[in-house]
Amino acid sequence: MLSRIDHVGIAVRDLDEAIRIYERRLGLRSTGRERLEREGIEIAMIPIGESRIELIMPINPDSRVEKFLQDRGEAVHHVAYATDDVRGSLEQAGAAGAQLLDEVARPGAHGTRIGFVHPKSVCGVLTEFVEADGQSGA
Ligand code: CO
Repeated sequence: MLSRIDHVGIAVRDLDEAIRIYERRLGLRSTGRERLEREGIEIAMIPIGESRIELIMPINPDSRVEKFLQDRGEAVHHVAYATDDVRGSLEQAGAAGAQLLDEVARPGAHGTRIGFVHPKSVCGVLTEFVEADGQSGA
């Protein structure tokens, strides 16, 4: 059901600076930014092969990513797996004993549908399922 790593999310303090670091030091290229007001974050996507790096910066103090940064500093925040059925993947993980942060799929960036599994259930890694809207995903 899970087909590949869609993206790795990385929590950052300064999105402009983080983009510069990934572009200059790794020679990658950021292709798009998006503010998700409801989540309290702004993200930048950096394509790499069939996957992406998702740089995530909190834009308000109540954001979960702000709390993550205070606890852990800049670090890998989550791993996202592509699936053709977010709800089915959540149900399967839940049936196997995982603690779900989303019981049903909800809207993500760039028209995707997403759902999260608690890090305690996946070896300490916040885990996202993502279902692309259209062929190329986001
Ligand atoms: Co993500």
